[in-house]
Amino acid sequence: MSTKKSMTLIDNRTNTQYEYPILDGTRGPSVVDLRSFFKDTGMFTFDPGYTSTASCQSEITFINGAKGELRYRGIPIEELAENHSYLEACFLLLNGRLPDKEELTDFDLELRHRAFIPESSRYLFTAFPDGAHPMATLSASVTALSSFYATHLNLESDEEFSEMANRILAKIPTLAAFAYRHYLGIPFIQPDIDLSFTENFLAMMRAYPGHKMKLGRDGHQNITPLEVEALDTIFTLHADHEQNASTTVVRGVASTGAHPYVAISSGIAALWGRAHGGANESVIAQLTMIGSVDNVDAFIARAKDPDDDFRLMGFGHRVYKNFDPRAKILKKLQDKLKEELDLDSNLMKIAARIEEIALSDEYFVSRNLYPNIDFYSGIILTALQIPKEMFTPIFVIGRTIGWIAQWTEFKKDPMSKIARPRQLYTGK
Ligand code: CMC
Repeated sequence: MSTKKSMTLIDNRTNTQYEYPILDGTRGPSVVDLRSFFKDTGMFTFDPGYTSTASCQSEITFINGAKGELRYRGIPIEELAENHSYLEACFLLLNGRLPDKEELTDFDLELRHRAFIPESSRYLFTAFPDGAHPMATLSASVTALSSFYATHLNLESDEEFSEMANRILAKIPTLAAFAYRHYLGIPFIQPDIDLSFTENFLAMMRAYPGHKMKLGRDGHQNITPLEVEALDTIFTLHADHEQNASTTVVRGVASTGAHPYVAISSGIAALWGRAHGGANESVIAQLTMIGSVDNVDAFIARAKDPDDDFRLMGFGHRVYKNFDPRAKILKKLQDKLKEELDLDSNLMKIAARIEEIALSDEYFVSRNLYPNIDFYSGIILTALQIPKEMFTPIFVIGRTIGWIAQWTEFKKDPMSKIARPRQLYTGK
């Protein structure tokens, strides 16, 4: 027997033994390296939904689902949300370290300068029907962006990677705001170079044409520091989440050699589903449907009924079998907003009752179904008077940096191959 770390598999039909190396990461579960499994045995491994499959190696984000732990490049999410801005988190995800003051200023300035979108790309929005969902127009506009910029990157050039990354990162809020304004049928607002990343996004959603939005006291023409802080935190919490469904799609598209912005557009499409990023919009739609605290018990009963496909939106997670650490941070933020904005809406009351029941009910407890990030982000964004159709585009703005970092890592990894799973054929 080999003294190396390995796993021996025995085919009981023939008593044949196969040995596979065990590889250790720096944290988290080890993996059994099955790359030669088909060649050795003539069989495939079977794992629908990839519940036991590591599809790549990565040094970007680490999650310990049992402990409810999340780190970007080794730094705990709590520390990033508390002490650093979203742009610092972006720099960290891209470069593997936090920026110094000068680097942060340069990065911020570069994103401000790149926030404008090519003039003709704005006409794309008007080709969509009035009231088109912003996720549809956003995804299409990111695909369209690929036609404005070179298709092939020089894989040796860090500058080309960085230009590709900064360009899409800077333009995503503009595209999302344009998608929103087309949804409402109101004139587009161009980015304002005097505003920061997060202020700019709020301004492009809210401003009246020709009026400058200011950061200051509450009111019609202003953006409040509290809402900028809240939105910036929401962006940071969404920035990356290792190999989730949309990131897996982005890496899959990257593996075919398609343009990076097309890969990101595919990620946007994947995120839209309500089992993934679309859950934040569905949470509010569901709370509205429940309508009153008196109806909560009936809906909880439906969520528990195996013959009813009703699910409580904003509960459960494939990886977290403990409290989602992002949800914990957002719950605190929700409580702060509740106090500072003196909020006590009907939706908040319904949400609080659902949370209370789910955290003590045997069905949810035994299945480790805790509130996830989307449960609280929907409530917070509603408190900030952002309409629910913009919730998933806001998730997109936050997550774009994660997709870029994962796309870049994929491109630079010599182990990368085209994504091509196999199947267990059961047809005629
Ligand atoms: N409400 C009621 N029951 C649920 C829920 C829920 N939200 N989520 C899971 N379950 C039950 C499910 O019916 C199953 O029960 P049983 O063992 O009796 O068949 C058990 O819990 C395990 O569920 P699963 O579907 O096997 O779990 P999964 O890991 O495949 O799915 C999930 C994870 C997030 C898709 C799922 O929990 C869900 O649909 N949640 C609601 C949608 C949601 O909030 N999505 C946002 C996820 S966080 C943000 C993001 O990463 O995008």
